[in-house]
Amino acid sequence: MIVSQLEFEGFRNLKTGKIEPVPEVNILYGQNAQGKTNLLEALWFFTGSRSFRGAKDAETVAFGSEKARLGLDFIAEERSQRAEILIEKRRSATLGGIPLRSASRLAGRFCAIVFSPAHLSLVKEGPEGRRRFLDAAYCQVRPGYLKILADYQRVLTQRNALLKDIRNGGAKEGLDIWDERLSLTGSRVFAARAAYIRRLAPIAEKIYAGISGGGESFCIGYSSKAGDERTNPEEVYGRLLTLLRQEREADIAAGFSTVGPHRDDIRIEIAERSARVYASQGQQRSAVLALKLAEASVLREETGEQPVALLDDVMSELDTTRQDYVLNHIHGWQVFLTCCDPSPVLRLTGGRIFHVEGGRIIRDAL
Ligand SMILES: Nc1ncnc2c1ncn2[C@@H]1O[C@H](COP(=O)(O)OP(=O)(O)O)[C@@H](O)[C@H]1O
Ligand SMILES: [Mg+2]
Repeated sequence: MIVSQLEFEGFRNLKTGKIEPVPEVNILYGQNAQGKTNLLEALWFFTGSRSFRGAKDAETVAFGSEKARLGLDFIAEERSQRAEILIEKRRSATLGGIPLRSASRLAGRFCAIVFSPAHLSLVKEGPEGRRRFLDAAYCQVRPGYLKILADYQRVLTQRNALLKDIRNGGAKEGLDIWDERLSLTGSRVFAARAAYIRRLAPIAEKIYAGISGGGESFCIGYSSKAGDERTNPEEVYGRLLTLLRQEREADIAAGFSTVGPHRDDIRIEIAERSARVYASQGQQRSAVLALKLAEASVLREETGEQPVALLDDVMSELDTTRQDYVLNHIHGWQVFLTCCDPSPVLRLTGGRIFHVEGGRIIRDAL
């Protein structure tokens, strides 16, 4: 996947124009609030996904304008393609001149991964974000996983409703069957996530070693009361069932299920200790970057297509060794990288530099 040109008109603060990136590293450098992240967001819109900043489509139209237009020339499946996006109240898109039913249909046509400082929550905060990362990443690899997740969610909702009912004096009989259903659908979710972690872990660990210069160990795994990523999936069903029965009274008192994959987590350790609790800012940033790049590698193995990497403000808090890895050692990818501080830019050995100032993108500024 390679972007050969991006055009923009009426998008956020970007002045009408275009950029022609190189297939290697592209640096967008400039002071705060100049439009660097806006440019990454424009590229990201071609994945068909929602804004990685949680913005509504209409908010990305330049103040005072009615609409925004984006055009992307890119190479995928070894041929040049063109997609266009029109944003009025909502986004609409064309691919090769043909209107798509919705802009989300661009998904799978143009692929990218994004690192933004908000993603640091993946390491820094609670398990919910890590489960979401895992589920979203695996859905891209196995779209059928969406149904497995939905089945589990439905059973969980029903079991929880029954628990509340019992708490309010309802009969307990029905619970046995919901324990079985939750264990069955839960063991499928568990198996899928464990399979993904087994693929992701060795790649992420290798990338982390590259970023950190190999000086510290990085280890990820699946963490659940019912086992870890190596647990035999058939055993998980039995373990979940046992746990649900053990916790039955507690579940009734709580009015919801306290056991199951909706409570699981990814274990992330640096130097054999919890990265959330003990790692430095730079280590946490490196860990998230390793996870994101590994996610893209797995996707490439599946689809044969290397996603474009959009790295927003990844450099701050990284020491020069780590910055050098990001600048000069991510090979075989097209990277778009934003930064404020010009000093790392000067150490770039290839690639192209764009200076972003007041929504204007100036090529080869340094
Ligand atoms: N819809 C919009 N129209 C015009 N300007 C916008 C819009 N949305 C955001 N901006 C402006 O874009 C600037 C932020 O750009 P951003 O790309 O986030 O900066 P940075 O270069 O720090 O990454 C802010 O000054 C903000 O006011
Ligand atoms: Mg920014």
